[in-house]
Amino acid sequence: MKPLEYLDRSLMCDGVALADVAAMAGTPCYVYSAKTLRENYRAYADAFGDTPHRVYYAMKANGNLSILRLLAKEGAGFDIVSGGELFRVLKAGCDPSKVVFSGVGKTSAEIDQALEAGIFAFNCESEPELALIDSLTHRRGVKARVAIRVNPNVQASTHAYISTGGKAHKFGIDIDEAEGVYERARAHKSLLIEGVSCHIGSQIFDPTSLLKAVDRVLEFIDKLRGRGFDIRHADLGGGLGVGYKPDDEVPVISEFVAALRARTTGRGLEVMVEPGRSIVGNAGVLVTRVLYRKRTGTKEFVITDAAMTDLIRPALYDAHHEILPVRAAEGLPTICADVVGPVCESGDFLAHDRTMPEAFPGDLLAVCTAGAYGFVQSSTYNARPRAAEVLVDEGVARIVRQRETYEDLIRGE
Ligand code: LLP
Repeated sequence: MKPLEYLDRSLMCDGVALADVAAMAGTPCYVYSAKTLRENYRAYADAFGDTPHRVYYAMKANGNLSILRLLAKEGAGFDIVSGGELFRVLKAGCDPSKVVFSGVGKTSAEIDQALEAGIFAFNCESEPELALIDSLTHRRGVKARVAIRVNPNVQASTHAYISTGGKAHKFGIDIDEAEGVYERARAHKSLLIEGVSCHIGSQIFDPTSLLKAVDRVLEFIDKLRGRGFDIRHADLGGGLGVGYKPDDEVPVISEFVAALRARTTGRGLEVMVEPGRSIVGNAGVLVTRVLYRKRTGTKEFVITDAAMTDLIRPALYDAHHEILPVRAAEGLPTICADVVGPVCESGDFLAHDRTMPEAFPGDLLAVCTAGAYGFVQSSTYNARPRAAEVLVDEGVARIVRQRETYEDLIRGE
């Protein structure tokens, strides 16, 4: 079942009318479907079956505590990229031994914080980082499990800003140079060098590039094992795309996992993945109210109370998000309009030249597939308090983050 469906012309999320949610939480607000979150997580977990595996949800996609808790309950681990994300994971009561720490610029304070918490492993991206983790670990008299993130030099066809696996990218260590890095890392006596990790980008539709990277990583693991490294886990990253347009041909999670299993079975490896968008993307929607209609010259505008501050993906990546009326009235004419927010920039838009049903001031619109990289990338530019977040579970809508207040805006000043 899709997360959003019309019932008697009213757009529903898991049996709750979005109009009712908007009345309760105000607009703009993010609304998430617990059912869809669980379904997406289970699509990964079930497809792995008895293959030793762990699904580390890349919480950068959406770090709301209630979502973390829900996924932890399902058995998820978490891929974090900052001390702040670790703080969230711990606040949500998640098990730190199911956390991997990725990212190209971990500070010593963050590494220390992760050692203190007792995370599963660090995905390391440079030799100085390995040396720093070794020295901080040594000081504590413990050992830290590490994987080195290799860059398999596979170009993923996606937006340039979210492609990470090419030679010119800041991420990982070139796979052709990585053997030497592993050899030199032997000198770090406080490190347990047990993994290899990789991640080549996000919003990838064709799993071929992902699987090409996996093949290179597995080949590399064979080489390392040949040199005596006890490689036990392969972290194959995230990146599976989601459908933003109705006709997008979306990769099927279970088929992708089956391809991973086919490649890894019998290798004595724990297979790890770090999906973010494919777990939470289609589980969320941004509900906004039309403030004004306006026409300038030949352009038609629908001005909404949600802006680039709430959902920056259209402005930043020229991303497409479907926009649906929350109340689908019959016989409305179609318009072609820019859907824009109140922020004082021409870059503030949710859609350009969108063909959509006529929308009037006061109408509610649902900006679809906004669960991933939506709220987490919001800002308070123009002194706009951040939106509320609502989780719908078993037919009950609950505010899981209050709308920010003006007082929130000036905290610390
Ligand atoms: N692992 C690592 C190391 C990552 O850097 C990322 C995403 C993921 C996993 C999860 O990738 P996913 O399964 O979500 O594709 N803000 C952009 C997306 C940035 C992705 C950053 N890294 C957007 O709105 O499209």
